[in-house]
Amino acid sequence: MSAKPASASRVEMSEVMTPNDANFLGKVFGGRVLSMLDIAAYATASRFAGHVCVTASVDRVDFHEPIEVGELVTCVGTVTYVGRTSLEVTIEVFAENVLKGERRHTNTARVTMVAMDEALRPVEVPRLICETREEKVRFLEGRLRREIRGAHQSEFERLAAGFAAASDARLDELLAAPSLMGVAAREG
Ligand SMILES: CC(C)(COP(=O)(O)OP(=O)(O)OC[C@H]1O[C@@H](n2cnc3c(N)ncnc32)[C@H](O)[C@@H]1OP(=O)(O)O)[C@@H](O)C(=O)NCCC(=O)NCCS
Repeated sequence: MSAKPASASRVEMSEVMTPNDANFLGKVFGGRVLSMLDIAAYATASRFAGHVCVTASVDRVDFHEPIEVGELVTCVGTVTYVGRTSLEVTIEVFAENVLKGERRHTNTARVTMVAMDEALRPVEVPRLICETREEKVRFLEGRLRREIRGAHQSEFERLAAGFAAASDARLDELLAAPSLMGVAAREG
């Protein structure tokens, strides 16, 4: 199995936001940024894997501040963790007011991509060589995120399974509860 450094995957993609990208408040649509993220993740993962990669999942993406029409949006993608056939790509998003030369970091997103062979089956990806301390930390964070996602999904399914089976009275009780996590903790 081949191995590559994280630096071999780095992709930088920039686009100026036009009025076509605006929502009803005149700011850039969240979906426009998600689309750019996904394309950058495709290029980053596929460059690293040497295979076409597809999007398996996108972790939570928070929009802390709006992006304006006319700003230059840049997505910087790097592979931060690899499994057997999947890769975690971290995308940092920046928005720049090109007139003032002011650049701000607007989002960080983590996208899991899966490498596919010609028969559209998942295929092994190169190992990731972590050259710096920062890359080692990022790899461990990616592995931890994957483990937490798995545990979170099982726990969600276990707790939510009770909703469908609950009586109407029990559903009303749950609707009035201040915290479902609190109820779950009390009832084990
Ligand atoms: C992603 C996809 C290839 C996974 O297929 P699968 O049959 O579940 O494949 P496997 O069970 O062999 O899993 C392959 C890898 O994907 C990972 N994976 C599968 N589903 C995942 C998900 N929802 N989130 C994160 N990782 C996922 C597995 O953990 C595994 O990783 P590993 O090899 O590093 O351990 C398949 O679900 C698919 O084709 N989805 C549609 C992709 C697509 O079209 N994306 C664009 C949407 S518009």
